[in-house]
Amino acid sequence: MKIIDGKKISNQIKDEIKKEVDSLIASNQKVPHLAAVLVGEDGASLTYVGSKVRSCKQVGFDSTLIRLPSTITESSLIEEIDKLNNNKLIDGFIVQLPLPKHIDEEKILMAIKPEKDVDGFHPTNFGKMALNMDTFIPATPFGIIELLKRYNIETSGKHTVVIGRSHIVGRPISILMNSKREAGDSTVTVVHSRTKNLEFYTKSADILVSALGIPEFVKASMVKNDVVIIDVGITRVEDSSNEKGYILKGDVDFESVKNRASYITPVPGGVGPMTIAMLLKNTLLSKSLSKDK
Ligand code: GUN
Repeated sequence: MKIIDGKKISNQIKDEIKKEVDSLIASNQKVPHLAAVLVGEDGASLTYVGSKVRSCKQVGFDSTLIRLPSTITESSLIEEIDKLNNNKLIDGFIVQLPLPKHIDEEKILMAIKPEKDVDGFHPTNFGKMALNMDTFIPATPFGIIELLKRYNIETSGKHTVVIGRSHIVGRPISILMNSKREAGDSTVTVVHSRTKNLEFYTKSADILVSALGIPEFVKASMVKNDVVIIDVGITRVEDSSNEKGYILKGDVDFESVKNRASYITPVPGGVGPMTIAMLLKNTLLSKSLSKDK
């Protein structure tokens, strides 16, 4: 069994990005600028956005964090988005999800200018991705593709089973891995909460991508020998013995499944760090495409 070290690969990618930023600086060009909008006080979202901002500093990007109260109205949030759409200094921005219940997520994502949508969540970008056109690919699936590529894991002709059909991970990774592209050409099955006899599918997976959010859901009995496991779950589970009061758990029962797997991503340190690295990569791409946004 080999561990897929997302921390190590994400650091390599950040180093590559930093080199590109250094050459922009050397030629007197503006460095990429990422903005993040955070609505409310959700603990996990605060941590993720904090890491995104810190990573910008690491690679030499400018960053702006816009914090808004959970009581903000939908129209005021759209006004904030419009300011970012029109701010020529900002190359790309994200609105951290989930949003408070009174705000329609779809309306918010639709309000982001596609050229600045470095999360790749706008229907224009999602549609381009589905058609295999160049665009911003959502950071988590993009990170999974990059891990498969950098570990030379064969995907062509393999059976990939994706657990979960979210717009952020399950749906896009199923499209990407099924497409004619690097780390693609896979035969993909998507299973979800309404799937009957889910184990029938997971047991036939050569590659299993789990993006479900239920800690330790995938057990050794649900997979075959030599499976490649990509665990996207990061759930906070209460643990009073830990100083933070919680520990992070993936969707996969790592200790039992690791003995069966040929490759496996740990949690933390697998897919998580890749998400941030690929968001930075999208921001660099946005900067390079920007003439007058
Ligand atoms: N919430 C969980 N993952 C993500 C992500 O990749 N982008 C945004 N904007 N919100 C998220």
